[in-house]
Amino acid sequence: SRKIIIDTDPGQDDAVAILLALASPEELDVLGIVAVAGNVGLHHNATNARKVVELSGRTEVPVFAGCARPMRRTLVTAEHVHGDTGLNGPDLPDPKIPLQPQHGVDWIIDTLMASEPGSITLCTLGPLTNIGMALVKEPRIAEVIGEIVMMGGAYFEVGNITPAAEFNIYVDPEAADVVLRSGVPITIMPLDVTHQVQSTPARLQAIRGLGNRTGHAVYEMLTFSESFDLRKYGWEGAPLHDPTVIAYLLQPELFEGRHCNVTVETASELTVGMTVADYWHVTGRVRNAIFMRSANADGFYTLLTERLARLP
Ligand code: BDR
Ligand code: CA
Repeated sequence: SRKIIIDTDPGQDDAVAILLALASPEELDVLGIVAVAGNVGLHHNATNARKVVELSGRTEVPVFAGCARPMRRTLVTAEHVHGDTGLNGPDLPDPKIPLQPQHGVDWIIDTLMASEPGSITLCTLGPLTNIGMALVKEPRIAEVIGEIVMMGGAYFEVGNITPAAEFNIYVDPEAADVVLRSGVPITIMPLDVTHQVQSTPARLQAIRGLGNRTGHAVYEMLTFSESFDLRKYGWEGAPLHDPTVIAYLLQPELFEGRHCNVTVETASELTVGMTVADYWHVTGRVRNAIFMRSANADGFYTLLTERLARLP
């Protein structure tokens, strides 16, 4: 099975992504989960990651804490979407599994440097601070990482935290810039994709109807986080962002995109954090990422529901 590291700021949709990965041991070997500051502060995100691991029953998967703030900027958080703990909705017990003592960035570097080149995929579900910092601290990891699959950015759906920028990129645009220029093969799930996989009432009821504790918790998570999104967008269901990263690893045929140059704005006050994708290849800039553009939403929810059924 494919070895992955999940870097995350859970987050209800991050939590669902983690559960999808942990429910798929035949395809995915989750080496560890690293928390980063984002949706809420690092301390909450690291606690939430451990709660989610315990919910899945996969308590052997280690959880680390990485960076507490972005490379250069003041942390911007999203309690207005995710609640004060970052994972409001379900009533999950305080975690018993420990937080690993090593800093998450050092663990990422050590794990990559000890691995067969190309054998590890990094899945990023939050701001790119930890991966950017790891690339700065040990540039040789760029030769070793197999692929980075990230949720972040947008083309035509533009922004969700500012009119121009998607949240994960906006929080740490300097880190995103380091990652996009690293030369590592990158696949990006932008808002264009995640806005297509909406948690309609029928899809949420199917997850609740699984009857297991995971299905129940996921139902409560998504019902909480979608209440904000439904007001904001006025759609039938809320977008489900981060699980698209894991779904892509499991069933890449659910997604379509284009290999192009993707650059992030780091200077303009108006558009900082905006991803600029050279969709029509009008520049000579190197094609550094596959920017996905569409998803098979029914196929995605079928996969998600079927996998969540396998958990306790
Ligand atoms: C991203 O921002 C976070 O709030 C979500 O977890 C997702 O990673 C969407 O813009
Ligand atoms: Ca996230």
